[in-house]
Amino acid sequence: MSGTRRLIVAVDGPAAAGKGTLARALAETLGLPYLDTGLLYRAVARRVLDQGKNPAECGAEQARVLQTEDLQRDDLRASEVDRAASLVARQPSVRAALLERQREFGQAHGAVVDGRDIGTVVFPNADVKLFITASPEVRAQRRYKQRHGVLCDDPALLAEEVAALVARDEQDASRAVSPLRPADNAIQILTDDLGAEAVLHRALDVLRDRGLYSHS
Ligand code: DC
Repeated sequence: MSGTRRLIVAVDGPAAAGKGTLARALAETLGLPYLDTGLLYRAVARRVLDQGKNPAECGAEQARVLQTEDLQRDDLRASEVDRAASLVARQPSVRAALLERQREFGQAHGAVVDGRDIGTVVFPNADVKLFITASPEVRAQRRYKQRHGVLCDDPALLAEEVAALVARDEQDASRAVSPLRPADNAIQILTDDLGAEAVLHRALDVLRDRGLYSHS
């Protein structure tokens, strides 16, 4: 490995496409800190829900007072938080409150950062921008397996999971501020038929092509 100091790698894409798995593996391989920005929105949503407030309208105050402990809670991946996070993430004041925090994290030592707007808004000058996608069916199965430890063999249940993912993607992609979309210069990786190792190798190939990673 060479030249990875203060390197910023942006990993964007829709829900359950494999961003987190890739970003964590990349961070480990490159020796860089990893930031899961979705967790910030989830933690804000959790605080709003805990206060009995409406996640479609409230969030900025909670985003401003977010503590490290909020990010360590083990209930941030519940499906009610999925929906609420997408709603708080639509609010410009919430995004503004979280923006500096994300930039400071990356600017200190470089980072692999995953989210929806990392390559477009948070780090528009990132050294490498990856956009990770997969079909809704594949993503729904991955999400189900994350939650239940096994693949879903009930078509009706899977269809519900697909519908929830598609609704959340639409919400994330249609918002006025920082919508989910690939940066113009992002490299897209479709992960339907690729395991985690293969996705990591694709990403490392991109870095290698740019002289940012030199191991074979
Ligand atoms: O990646 P995730 O599923 O944990 O993200 C939770 C929600 O937060 C999701 O609806 C999209 C939103 N989000 C965002 O708007 N911008 C980011 N950089 C990361 C997540």
